Amino acid sequence: MKIRAAVLEEFAKPLVVQEVDLEGPRAGEVLVRLEACGVCHTDLYTASGVDPSGYAPAVLGHEGAGVVEAIGGDVTSLAVGDHVVTLFSPQCGECVHCVSDRTNLCLAIREQQNLGHLPDGTTRLSRGGEPIRHFMGTSTFAEATVMPEIALAKIDPAAPLDRACLFACGLSTGLGAAMQTAQVQAGSTCVVFGAGMVGLGAVAGCRLQGAERIVCVDLSAQRLELARGQGATDVMTGGPDAVAEILELTGGFGADYTFEATGNVRVMRQAVEAARMGWGLCTVAGVAGRGETLDVVPRLLITGRRIAGSSFGGLKGRDQVPQLVDRYLAGEIDVDAFLSHRITLDEVNRGFELMEAQDGIRSVITFA
Ligand SMILES: NC(=O)c1ccc[n+]([C@@H]2O[C@H](COP(=O)([O-])OP(=O)(O)OC[C@H]3O[C@@H](n4cnc5c(N)ncnc54)[C@H](O)[C@@H]3O)[C@@H](O)[C@H]2O)c1
Ligand SMILES: [Zn+2]
Ligand SMILES: [Zn+2]
Repeated sequence: MKIRAAVLEEFAKPLVVQEVDLEGPRAGEVLVRLEACGVCHTDLYTASGVDPSGYAPAVLGHEGAGVVEAIGGDVTSLAVGDHVVTLFSPQCGECVHCVSDRTNLCLAIREQQNLGHLPDGTTRLSRGGEPIRHFMGTSTFAEATVMPEIALAKIDPAAPLDRACLFACGLSTGLGAAMQTAQVQAGSTCVVFGAGMVGLGAVAGCRLQGAERIVCVDLSAQRLELARGQGATDVMTGGPDAVAEILELTGGFGADYTFEATGNVRVMRQAVEAARMGWGLCTVAGVAGRGETLDVVPRLLITGRRIAGSSFGGLKGRDQVPQLVDRYLAGEIDVDAFLSHRITLDEVNRGFELMEAQDGIRSVITFA
């Protein structure tokens, strides 16, 4: 079939929206008609050419939500008409990581996904007979996509898909960092560095866990206002004095849980230093630049602080994304506050511009 899609043709150039060919689903694959897709930093990071693992031509996009239009052979867990959220972090349910409750890093299709292939080593996307590669196993800047069954989370059809798509990446990453990776205990004190999609999700996650005090640190007054809306009890302007200010706020001890959602290694260090001696847990969700390292005084660890990393919030996507969407439907998560701009597929490059200008939290592409 012919679909319209935003193709990364050349790094550091605007994406080119055009008609491409999409082959139907093979065994274990599903054709999804997209209704909405968020524009995320990772798309821009790859488009810019800074990501050393990037490739072109490829159809970008990974924050998708849509409706199943066809299923390939052997697909048993999804049916035509199901509403789904796309997962760049799949859940096969069978690999050594999937059967462990200690990680969400499914091993089933990693290598092929990183190469821009579907699990059988080929692509369903092409143009004039030349293959176009898939991105993050999702390629959702498109009217439709073919994805592995294990990378689709079936959600309650009552959820509006232009909100549900935000659970495909940043929002779930933040919520999961607090709820799954850190497993914040009720009554605790939390500090979240960064009030973008991920940090605001972490603030909401801390609130859902029953944290008593949630301090959010950012450079933007407007974003700190949004953090209050998600449950931050205190807000603070970031900078070199942030650790001293947090220690002062917490009787000299630091927080029970800290979260890093900026991607800046100096802020990661602050997040470690702002964690409490004895049991403070620092969860790093931000992605640092290539080759950057985290500088930590080992004594901080000997005296009981711990550091954890969190990919996609530690969530097993097929099981846990639908649960988060249910909590949104129950009124426990204010997703509307994150949907800042609604754009068309043809305006995808404007989505990047808005993101670079920090105009709003998320631009969402909707497909008519
Ligand atoms: N671990 C994962 O699976 C995963 C998934 C998605 C995104 N990420 C990463 O999470 C990070 C955050 O993503 P986002 O979409 O929320 O980004 P974002 O750019 O929207 O938000 C980052 C925020 O950090 C703030 N900030 C910058 N310097 C600061 C400082 N010194 N002190 C306090 N705040 C500061 C900015 O003002 C901004 O609001 C990125 O590094 C992104 O790559 C990780
Ligand atoms: Zn993303
Ligand atoms: Zn697996």
